[in-house]
Order: sequence, then structure tokens, then C-alpha cells
Amino acid sequence: MDVILIDGLTKVYKPNWPWQKPVKGLDGLSLSVSRGEIYGFLGPNGAGKTTTLKILMGLMRPTSGTAELLGQPAGDIHTRRRIGFLPEAPYFYDYLTAEEFLGFYGCLAGLDRSTLARRITELLDLMGLTEARTRQLRTFSKGMLQRIGLAQALIHDPELVILDEPMSGLDPIGRKQVRDLILNLREQGKTVFFSTHIIPDVEMICDRVGIVVKGRLLASGRVDELVSRHAGPVEIVCDGLLPERVAEIVPKAAKVLWRGSQCMIVLPNSDLVDGAVENIRRHGGRLISVTPQKGSLEELFVAQSEDRPLA
Ligand SMILES: Nc1ncnc2c1ncn2[C@@H]1O[C@H](COP(=O)(O)OP(=O)(O)OP(=O)(O)O)[C@@H](O)[C@H]1O
Ligand SMILES: [Mg+2]
Repeated sequence: MDVILIDGLTKVYKPNWPWQKPVKGLDGLSLSVSRGEIYGFLGPNGAGKTTTLKILMGLMRPTSGTAELLGQPAGDIHTRRRIGFLPEAPYFYDYLTAEEFLGFYGCLAGLDRSTLARRITELLDLMGLTEARTRQLRTFSKGMLQRIGLAQALIHDPELVILDEPMSGLDPIGRKQVRDLILNLREQGKTVFFSTHIIPDVEMICDRVGIVVKGRLLASGRVDELVSRHAGPVEIVCDGLLPERVAEIVPKAAKVLWRGSQCMIVLPNSDLVDGAVENIRRHGGRLISVTPQKGSLEELFVAQSEDRPLA
């Protein structure tokens, strides 16, 4: 079952002044997220991630297109209780302590007193904030605020968790904690949809990834599928070639490196391997190895963001 279903979402931001042009925040974006999945919504700055998440949460209306969460239209008030949300720039009430802040959100979510007390203790512990329980949020560091924001998103034990850049502002330990937390949510059968531009975080934990650029979804699928669809360059190592003739023997080489008599030739893609190997042999070269370099999500991300096809 699709927990999130987005179909042809477009958002045009109207200009504040007549001489400004309208900005397209989203341009016909469609995607779906199944129950129990961790879906990484990856894109460069200004791609439309926050716009999508705001529309999903009913904080903003799309210009056209539809979005459904848990089978209901985005913004449906009754479904809201089943969803946890971490905004991109959460506003924190400076003078509330950590436990008062979580208590406030727990009350809004309709938790009873004893459940709330238990959840506050559990979540502060999970986020490593137990020591800071009675400290006012104005004394929190950026990373601590990010953690309390995450605790807020989870206070009512939601079945769908939507997070806008949950790793932002966190140190490597904090990022690992958030990754573990997201994996833990999946183990409990929850669905997690989060935006980020930190590629390793996506590679490590996501079941599926969508790459959004300029408001469009340019690729979507499992990380290994996306990466293999865009096979990377191939490395050929050989010896017995004359350095001055390599450019002529393998004219399409992207890079040529020498180590003693051995020559490493990098070809931009696998289609060129047969021809190159044949030429190398014909010119008296001896083949030592042919190794495909696995494409990385980073290469795919950069290529998509720069609007150019992968080599
Ligand atoms: N309130 C607004 N008014 C006008 N344009 C906006 C508004 N909010 C966003 N935009 C524009 O819409 C586009 C998408 O913005 P959005 O905030 O959704 O990107 P993002 O992917 O979340 O980026 P980031 O990684 O920087 O958070 C950008 O071009 C942005 O300038
Ligand atoms: Mg954003």
C-alpha cells in the first residue's frame, strides 16, 4: 500500500513585485512511498524538497497536482495525528525546558499524562538529551536543537515520519544516531520519508531514493539499481605500449597514467572497452586488467544536478 502518493505536483511561487518573475518550486513531481519503506528524497539546494514536504504536511497548497498521505488528501486534520514531522527550520520556544517542550507537543497530539511522561523519558534517552531534560532550549547547541526537534516529531509514536534534513547540523555521532533511529523506526514497521543532500546517509539506510532537481524527479529507485543503470568508467591496465602512441591507440581515453612501463587507461564508459582492447593488442600491448569502476550515487547526483548525461 502506498503511504505517500504524489501525482503531478506543481508549485509556482507568485512574485512579490510585478517586475519579478514567478518561481517554479515544483514542476510535475510524482512519486510514491510504500508502507515500511525508508525513502530518501535527495536533491541540491533549491531543488524543491522543502516545498514538497510543506505541501505534504498541508502547510502550503500546490498550484496543481495531488498528494495523499495514508490514503487521505495532504493536510487532512485527522490523519495528522498519525504523522510525525520535523520542519527544516523548526521554531523553538526559548524559555521552555526540553521536557516542557516535548510535553507541549505531546499534549497537542492528545497523549494522556502517563504515556506522555514515559515517551518524554524514552525519547530524551534515545536522543542523548537526558542530562538536558530540565534545561531551557535557549541554552541548547544547534545539534541539541535538531535532536529535540526529532524527539518532537516522534512523541506521539506516529506511523509515518516526514523529516526535512534530519541530519543537518549534527556531528558524525549525531548523524549515526539519527541513521540508527530511522532504521529502528523501520524495524517497528513505520514509514520514513526524509529529505537530504548528504549522499552517504542515503546510501547507508534508504530502501529507495528519489533525486529531485529543479522541481522534477529525475531518478527514483533502489540505490544499487540507480547506480548500475548509470555504469561508471572502466579502467584498463596494460604494458608494452609506447607512451607517445597511446593517444593514437586509445583516442577516447578520459585519463592516462603511467607507472613504470605499465599504463592505466580510464575509458569514460564500457561501450569503448572492446575497441580499446583490440587496438592495444594490435599495437603489441599486453593486457593486465580491465576493471569497471562502480558508479556512485554521488556521480549520479552531480550529473543529474548539472543537467548533463553521465559519461
Ligand atoms: N516562499 C517562497 N517564495 C518564492 N520562492 C520560493 C519560496 N520558497 C521556495 N522558493 C523557491 O522554490 C525553489 C525550491 O525551494 P525549496 O525550499 O523547496 O528547495 P530545497 O530543495 O528545500 O532546498 P534546500 O536544500 O536549500 O533546503 C527554490 O528556487 C526557491 O527559491
Ligand atoms: Mg529545504
